[in-house]
Amino acid sequence: MNFQDLPKPFFVMAPLDDVTDTVFRQIIASCAPPDVFFTEFVNVDGLMSPGRPKLLKKLRFTASEQPLIAQLWGLQPANFQAVASQIADGSLARELGLPEGVNFAGIDLNMGCPEKTVVKNGACSALINDPDLAVEIIQATQAGAGNLPVSVKTRIGFSVIDLSWIGLLLKQNLNMLTIHGRTRKEMSKVPAHWDVIGQVRELRDKLAVNTLIVGNGDVVNRQQGIELAQKYHLDGIMIGRGVFHDPFVFAESSPWEDYTRQQKIELYRRQVQLFADTWQNNERPLPTLNKFCKVYINDFEGSKELREQLMSAKTTGELLNLLENAKK
Ligand SMILES: Cc1cc2nc3c(=O)[nH]c(=O)nc-3n(C[C@H](O)[C@H](O)[C@H](O)COP(=O)(O)O)c2cc1C
Repeated sequence: MNFQDLPKPFFVMAPLDDVTDTVFRQIIASCAPPDVFFTEFVNVDGLMSPGRPKLLKKLRFTASEQPLIAQLWGLQPANFQAVASQIADGSLARELGLPEGVNFAGIDLNMGCPEKTVVKNGACSALINDPDLAVEIIQATQAGAGNLPVSVKTRIGFSVIDLSWIGLLLKQNLNMLTIHGRTRKEMSKVPAHWDVIGQVRELRDKLAVNTLIVGNGDVVNRQQGIELAQKYHLDGIMIGRGVFHDPFVFAESSPWEDYTRQQKIELYRRQVQLFADTWQNNERPLPTLNKFCKVYINDFEGSKELREQLMSAKTTGELLNLLENAKK
């Protein structure tokens, strides 16, 4: 896939760990698909260890979630190269059981996750403070990926806004650079600095005309995304938590506000059924579904009581029964 062929602005569904798995991506695809999907972040050092089978589930996907970018993180450049080459030659997709011809459309490197445990090990957003390793990781991934696009998702600095970090990334011949408009220190506590994302795009115009710039942070609907893309001349907009307010967030005209109680319950029922069909033997613990309960079971009479019942269910069978009964 050539990212340059995407519409302008294009919309990307953000990677949200423990949220945007194949099940939820399929639900979003059925409501209103974005132009690009991302997997949750997956650790390459784990993938190249005996723990591989456990991690592979994070990369599972179906042909309906396309184009899909595999997001990787880790520390060892050699492992990035090995996994990138397994993705590029299609062998990883075959290992996941996908038919010939169905593959990831690109590889993204996570250089933005602010979590303490990750940062303590020197990975993700900690790479902002270790530019030599960051460059080594990018080059190793590009060497493994061959012609498959390689991109980076990062923040605007570690403790302070740092455009020299962005400048360094823009010299790496990336296909795409996604900027979450906050520093690591800011976590998610302040509004995203869209003006700085605009400065990144200006820098791109000088340093790397072929690198697409995607802005990210606090976008809750498509119209807002279009306005930000126009204001700052961005190529794309990434939306993460906005999907919790509206599963049709990527639609040109979302029907969500008018969704009836029955329709909302039915959409959640579909997600629970897909979850039950996809994740066997506790591959994903049932409580991961609870985050979604409030998305659908909300804003109608009795929703609070129904949520309480649903969130105390112990099996998917129990959940499905409760939802079937609630629809009547
Ligand atoms: C629960 C959760 C999980 C996340 N997991 C990832 C991840 O796996 N990889 C990543 O690059 N960013 C991850 N992020 C960051 C989001 O992709 C995004 O950059 C951030 O939420 C800001 O965008 P938003 O305001 O549209 O949500 C995560 C954020 C949240 C809230």
